[in-house]
Amino acid sequence: MSTFYVTTPIYYVNDVPHLGHAYTTIVADTLARYHRMRGDHTRFLTGTDEHGQKVEEAANKRGLTPQQLVDQVAPRFDETWKTLGIDRYRFIRTTSDKHKKVVAHLWKRIREHNPEDLYLASYQGWYCVGCEAFYTESQLIKEGDQWCCAIHKKPVNWLDKERSWFFKLSKYAEPLLAYIDKNPDFIRPEQYRNEIVSFLKGGLKDLSVSRTSFQWGIPVPEPDPEGLSHVIYVWMDALTNYLSDLCPADGSIGGKDVAEYWPHALHIIGKDILRFHTVYWPAFLMAAGLPLPKGIFAHGWWTVRGEKISKSMPATRIDPIKLADALSVGPLGRPIGIDAMRYFLLREVPLGLDGDFTFESLFGRFNAELANDLGNLVNRSLTLIGKSPVRPAYDGFIAESGAHAALAAVAKSAIAEATLEYDRLAPSRALEAIWKLVREANKYVGDTQPWALAKDDSKSDELAHVYHMLASVIAIVGGLVTPVLPTTGRALRQWVGVADDALDRWPTPEDLMTIVGEVAKDPKPLYPRLDDKAQKKIFDTMVPPDTTAPAPAPAAAEATNQITYEDFAKLDLRVGRVASAQPIKGKDKLLQLTVDLGEAAPRTIVAGIAQAFPADSLVGKSVIVVANLAPRKMAGLMSQGMILAAGDEQILGLSAVDRDVPPGTRVK
Ligand code: MSP
Repeated sequence: MSTFYVTTPIYYVNDVPHLGHAYTTIVADTLARYHRMRGDHTRFLTGTDEHGQKVEEAANKRGLTPQQLVDQVAPRFDETWKTLGIDRYRFIRTTSDKHKKVVAHLWKRIREHNPEDLYLASYQGWYCVGCEAFYTESQLIKEGDQWCCAIHKKPVNWLDKERSWFFKLSKYAEPLLAYIDKNPDFIRPEQYRNEIVSFLKGGLKDLSVSRTSFQWGIPVPEPDPEGLSHVIYVWMDALTNYLSDLCPADGSIGGKDVAEYWPHALHIIGKDILRFHTVYWPAFLMAAGLPLPKGIFAHGWWTVRGEKISKSMPATRIDPIKLADALSVGPLGRPIGIDAMRYFLLREVPLGLDGDFTFESLFGRFNAELANDLGNLVNRSLTLIGKSPVRPAYDGFIAESGAHAALAAVAKSAIAEATLEYDRLAPSRALEAIWKLVREANKYVGDTQPWALAKDDSKSDELAHVYHMLASVIAIVGGLVTPVLPTTGRALRQWVGVADDALDRWPTPEDLMTIVGEVAKDPKPLYPRLDDKAQKKIFDTMVPPDTTAPAPAPAAAEATNQITYEDFAKLDLRVGRVASAQPIKGKDKLLQLTVDLGEAAPRTIVAGIAQAFPADSLVGKSVIVVANLAPRKMAGLMSQGMILAAGDEQILGLSAVDRDVPPGTRVK
């Protein structure tokens, strides 16, 4: 058992939580959940950043004191995380007494350890209130005759010879470079480490760490000989939260929690605040003679349909609760909507890279990976097991053979890979590894054909083993997805009868032999497919009408018989594997096929291809099936789909896929 301490940035209270904030918190929550499942001592901290000029100005505008304003708005973040089911986090506010005391102590410690590191001088330069940061002209952009912040695109303020305390940041470029060199994992991913290394190599300027032109902050705990009252720079104040939450109530820096957790601290941040965390924060700590956190991991930036998330573009400000609610289409309601949102955010973009949120990719992943891959595996397996008089049972002899051994091997490597990838802070890769197992298990159903085994009494041991494998793989998948999909993971494990005390435990390869219990008889489809109507409803709920006007279809479309993407998307094309094929008496052009589409049972499809293909030659072939064609009667049989083939009267070839693709995979 080891220790894990994860933090998010503390959010500015003047904003309303949006998808970008939710992303960071969900990433941290996923990691905390994973470590708890591993049995690690885990602590998770988030909170709000409440001081600074921005807040003072906003309060003045509203005729409130800053304290009144922050008391009104800070709970929004805490409430959002509670509603989104973020698990066992601590919530810190920088206006809390203890935090204020710790910040003052940090200042005093710097004074004790390196008295010359804090000195009074006068500051002149540009300041962006949005970033609460000082900039040189080379870091700004010019719009007309005004210098503007490159991030906020708003004019910056000129601070004219404001008397200020300075921190001797310049002294720390070398020690920081040496530290990063010795601890290559201190800043991750690598591209950000490189960025900071070259920034440090350019040398550092001393940093102004107090302000006198406004009062909403923590007072500098020592007098200014000129009698001015200074408040501590809001970033020095805010960064200290990571430590102050661990400190005892008297605000001294030390004690049991600092000793236990601080060496393990991992700061998850957005790339926008990399320098504050990887340069200022470690330099303050070094100056105070304190150890540095274990590491800083910067994730990328989300845009929404190609646009930066910004106050001026309401359609980009996706409210995570609203999105989760819109996705609550399954029987378990909001928790499943939350899982779907978490899945998309963590699967779509490898942690560290930028991402673009679009409804198309959200719906695409929902349908293909949640409803189809995972949903089908669970629904078809539990339906088969539920209906059968044969109970799942592990058989060591059968386990060694063919498809059974192959599935067990994939399950074991999925556990190993998912563990490694979560450890490496790569949840998207962990999910990829888990989905390899999900797809392999779907293939296993096609390969072992439990419906055929059920017809043969002499195969009941094998059938019991197939059921066992399916149930235990579902339990393992349930465990492996839990950090990202907490409600889904729990439901899966409960449905296959995992004991209560094992529900929150990280899977092991031994689970393949032991984990299944009483299997639920009528599982609910957790993720019903989002058809056009459902997709439109979600889109309309999420995007204000004035920004939804669909781009008019090009005029040429009508003239040349083109269809729009929406027309095409109505077709549900799927990969199907032909399970059996036989001629139909008296119909020399038709064949009766059963085709596995990854559903609970294969479909019967009547196809006019008998003259081009002998029935036997088709078994095991993967074909493309129109899966949402209304069933119709042909040759006295109900045909439940259509196989795509080249040629009209004379069939020349069958549509196929060029590699082994699991049945049920969507073709687009
Ligand atoms: N208060 C500071 C942080 C102080 S930490 C000691 C701050 N707050 S913030 O409210 O602006 O939140 C910043 C964090 O929110 C980002 O670092 C990032 O983690 C998250 N995100 C905000 N918008 C985001 C995106 N569009 N995309 C991804 N993450 C985003 O900075």
